[in-house]
Amino acid sequence: MKKHILLLFVVITGFFKVKADEGMWLPQLLESLNEKRMQSLGMKISASDIYDINKGSLKDAIVSFGGFCTGEVISDQGLLLTNHHCGFDAIQNHSTIDKNFIRDGFWARSKAEELPNAGLFVTFIVRIEDVTEQVLSGAPQNLTESARQSIVDKNARQQLNLVQKESYQNAFIRSFFDGNKYYLFVTETYNDVRLVGAPPSAIGNFGKDTDNWMWPRHTGDFSMFRIYAGKDNKPADYSPENIPYKPKKSLSISMSGMKEGDFTMVFGFPGRTSEYLPSKAVEQIMKVNDPAKILIRDKALKVIDKYMRTDEALKIQYASKYAGISNAWKKWQGEVLGLTNTNAVDKKLKYEAAFTDRVNKNPALQAAYGKLLPQLNGLYEQIKPLALARDYYLETTSKIELFTIVQRIRALNTKRDKGSYVGALKKEIDWMTGFLNELSIKVDKEVFAAMMQLYRENQHPAYVSAYAQEAYKKFGNYAAWAEALYAKSVFADKAKVLQQLKNNPNALFEALQTDEAAQLVVSISNLYDNKVAPSLNEKQSAINQLQRSYMKAQMEVFSEKDFYPDANSTLRVAFGNVKGYQSPTGKNYEYYTYLDGVMKKYKPGDYEFDVPEKLRQLYKQKDFGQYAVNGKVPVCFIASNHTTGGNSGSPALDAYGNLVGLNFDRVWEGTMSDINYDASICRNIMVDIRYILFIVDKFAGASHLVEEMNLVYPKK
Ligand code: ARG
Ligand code: ASP
Repeated sequence: MKKHILLLFVVITGFFKVKADEGMWLPQLLESLNEKRMQSLGMKISASDIYDINKGSLKDAIVSFGGFCTGEVISDQGLLLTNHHCGFDAIQNHSTIDKNFIRDGFWARSKAEELPNAGLFVTFIVRIEDVTEQVLSGAPQNLTESARQSIVDKNARQQLNLVQKESYQNAFIRSFFDGNKYYLFVTETYNDVRLVGAPPSAIGNFGKDTDNWMWPRHTGDFSMFRIYAGKDNKPADYSPENIPYKPKKSLSISMSGMKEGDFTMVFGFPGRTSEYLPSKAVEQIMKVNDPAKILIRDKALKVIDKYMRTDEALKIQYASKYAGISNAWKKWQGEVLGLTNTNAVDKKLKYEAAFTDRVNKNPALQAAYGKLLPQLNGLYEQIKPLALARDYYLETTSKIELFTIVQRIRALNTKRDKGSYVGALKKEIDWMTGFLNELSIKVDKEVFAAMMQLYRENQHPAYVSAYAQEAYKKFGNYAAWAEALYAKSVFADKAKVLQQLKNNPNALFEALQTDEAAQLVVSISNLYDNKVAPSLNEKQSAINQLQRSYMKAQMEVFSEKDFYPDANSTLRVAFGNVKGYQSPTGKNYEYYTYLDGVMKKYKPGDYEFDVPEKLRQLYKQKDFGQYAVNGKVPVCFIASNHTTGGNSGSPALDAYGNLVGLNFDRVWEGTMSDINYDASICRNIMVDIRYILFIVDKFAGASHLVEEMNLVYPKK
């Protein structure tokens, strides 16, 4: 009996203590929630050194990079560090056959050579305010979702009107904890961000798709930009007259490196996580949605890969598309594996049992939350077929570029009578030109055949458009259907699409009525809009409402635990320790990799594992400057920081807040951290800052950039 009670105690308390390094914490709450724990893990600074609205703090060196990645200021002249894969678009846009920055890298030798990037911006967070009370005023829990949302929106607009800010600042409000909390962000956005440097892809994306999401890793995934401001140091649109931005704070760079066990934190803009789902939802991700999406991408990638292997031009054309499709494809596979290995569903069920147990013991909780979990799990059962139909619709149609072209022309058509049309048309011509450059009709046709087969055969017939069924029946096989469709459709004629867009867009708009590809697209999207989306949205609203209650309930029922909100692309701090891990198969992984490892992976001429001549020379001559330790150049390391997509480019900081690394990925076994973080195997991957400096200084000869930085040598 005693043993049982003890066991029960251990099992229950296991849920409640803050799991070792889990969490993406709000910077403005570190002082009240996390400071002690961070210091106990080794942090030597205070929460107010990280976030303070009255003095320069670390947060003033962190930016959202273009809204999809993170960057950090590393000199008092606005020099900015982010990942190679975050800056890739800019690198690609400036590349030509003669000046191939993707292949050869790029280094501005002076500020005059730094390259402007239309549309690229960085956003600083000035301050964060809790506006929950104001936003939720007059919105009781039991309202329908849409009624609640309109009150929330109205209140939020009012708050945004009231907020005190400068004319060059912006503000927005975001929901946290599934709508239980609202925070207002005052921000400053700089639109003149210039490319300063990038290594060749053979360094910045070394190992490409094979090594992606994997450890041990040897990628120098970094690029550098510079923020420019108006003469008053305030945000300004691009102008040659603009000057390098003078930051409130720039990060100092530690040359001392990290040892196993050292405290580290990652400061950035994680995009999206779902850590508080009920068991049924996790089970569905694992067993239904992820597998469906993996299968669909698997088929699309196989077609593209086949062509890329045989055709040099296609390899370049499809490189970025392939990387994009395969990134999530690979991640989902790791996610399923990780959820399986960590018994995520079981863990959720136990958690739900503990939750229910506490709720049942307390009449007030019982009245409020007694039915919550069965209802929520029940709704997930109901949404299952609809969510699968959504995945099939989105995943298959988005891989067919012919469909993309039709949808773009449809969207443009709706703007035809509007004042914005001329501008929209001009933008569309630019967009389409770039898009068609990276499109091969031959490849797309085969992707179409593969996708339509999945769309038609793998789904319940109720979710397949009648038009698609009929069209298929005419041919009885997908390849023949594809041949005929692509031969006839004007939207599958690259030259014609572009020419008509420029000279006679009305012809394209008219073709929308008669063209078979257009009719197919319309029928497929109408079926989705009419038969799937309405019920899906209705169920999703009901789920959102219950999930909000469940989130609130978890915080009340387990009130001894500190909760962090799911990622939502707002500024967060994750912290943990540098450490290796043991994979579920029993393999032990070290926490560091070195340049020797790059050379071990080196395959001359290989698409993924070639090593630039200059780097091989530096290695041979051991010309490592100040960047080696005991004759070895550190390349990447891992730690237990809880990160996700969007954290790419985030600084990894040491106990003093010095920059030691640049976050860019996670290890394969731990990619399920978005749903079920597990401290035993979840690790984020960072490039060692000394590898970055070694490449900048020794490889690229851009030592003037290193001179701009503040290098420090903290004693260990
Ligand atoms: N897996 C990382 C992330 O999710 C890196 C992706 C870029 N690298 C690549 N080989 N595709 O974004
Ligand atoms: N590679 C991701 C990014 O681009 C980071 C991650 O998912 O760990 O943001």
